[in-house]
Amino acid sequence: MKQKIMSGMRPTGKLHLGHYLGVIDNWVKLQEEYDCYFSVADWHALTTKYDKTENLKQDVAEVVMDWLACGIDPEKATIYVQSLVPETAELHIYLSMITPQNWVERDPTLKDMAKILKSKEGMASQINYGLLGYPVLMTADILTFNADLVPVGIDQVAHVELTRDIARRFNNVYNTNFFKEPQPKLNNCSLICGLDGNKMGKSFNNDIKISDSAEVTAKKIMTAITDRSRLRKDDLGHPDDCEVAFKYWKIFASNGEIETVRCECEKGARGCADCKRQLGAIINDKLSEIREKRKYYENNPQEVERIIREGSARARIEAQKVLSEVRSLVKMY
Ligand code: TRP
Ligand code: SF4
Repeated sequence: MKQKIMSGMRPTGKLHLGHYLGVIDNWVKLQEEYDCYFSVADWHALTTKYDKTENLKQDVAEVVMDWLACGIDPEKATIYVQSLVPETAELHIYLSMITPQNWVERDPTLKDMAKILKSKEGMASQINYGLLGYPVLMTADILTFNADLVPVGIDQVAHVELTRDIARRFNNVYNTNFFKEPQPKLNNCSLICGLDGNKMGKSFNNDIKISDSAEVTAKKIMTAITDRSRLRKDDLGHPDDCEVAFKYWKIFASNGEIETVRCECEKGARGCADCKRQLGAIINDKLSEIREKRKYYENNPQEVERIIREGSARARIEAQKVLSEVRSLVKMY
């Protein structure tokens, strides 16, 4: 039997190249070897945005379209929406009964989120019960499929550790070895920085979206930071100090192209504007297939809907097997 993989993303709307290169591309490879469950965690979105749900459904669809465009194959992997698998909510209840309060209170991500919430005005400036349960809900996601492995970024490893603790505790309390202790499987998330050299992020205004057009992408690339010490185009350049543009070259171009750029830059034979124009063209070329696929799904929303419904139905069948075992272990009616 194939090992099971479970992972998810919150529906933050259109995804960017950091998501693609750091996470989704990794999932695309994993779907060949593992039995994969990929969830759009819409309940997790409610933990902080319960009062801003107007665009939630659309945001879920945007994420799924990006996944499909990047090569997640709904025939190979199970793509589903968290709230369409209510078994996870039931499991969350059982897990919440056996999770000590201080285990969730010491969650480092919760402290970060609390800070962010405090800095915002209005209703959402307190920590609600649901937000406190964020890592328990994530545990429920993972254990709903009794997954072996959880591909995540470094920021989520603490949550997978908690999942292992909760799984172990469930096994102890109910005298079973039913739940596996899933292992985190690290994605390399720092692969591509933002246009300003910081971490690429939606709210930092430094990202390139998977769904951006070729024109928008080319324009954005022109704003990428280069070698700050270079003032004129025939100044000798330092590719290794070229904060963003040369890093992008290294991600997207062939070794031969990279060496040519390095050489010409160091000799002062290449202006930064031209260099970035060329870079933009290469990136656009690499993304063209993904963009075409995305356009296709944008124009066929009923197909996206069908994929979501069918994937979620498939996920539920697996979830029901786990839950029926859990109910019997807990000795429910
Ligand atoms: N909390 C994760 C994040 O913010 C998203 C997520 C939800 C997740 N459920 C999951 C990740 C289950 C892995 C497994 O990135
Ligand atoms: Fe960077 Fe290219 Fe300018 Fe050299 S020429 S500093 S690699 S943008």
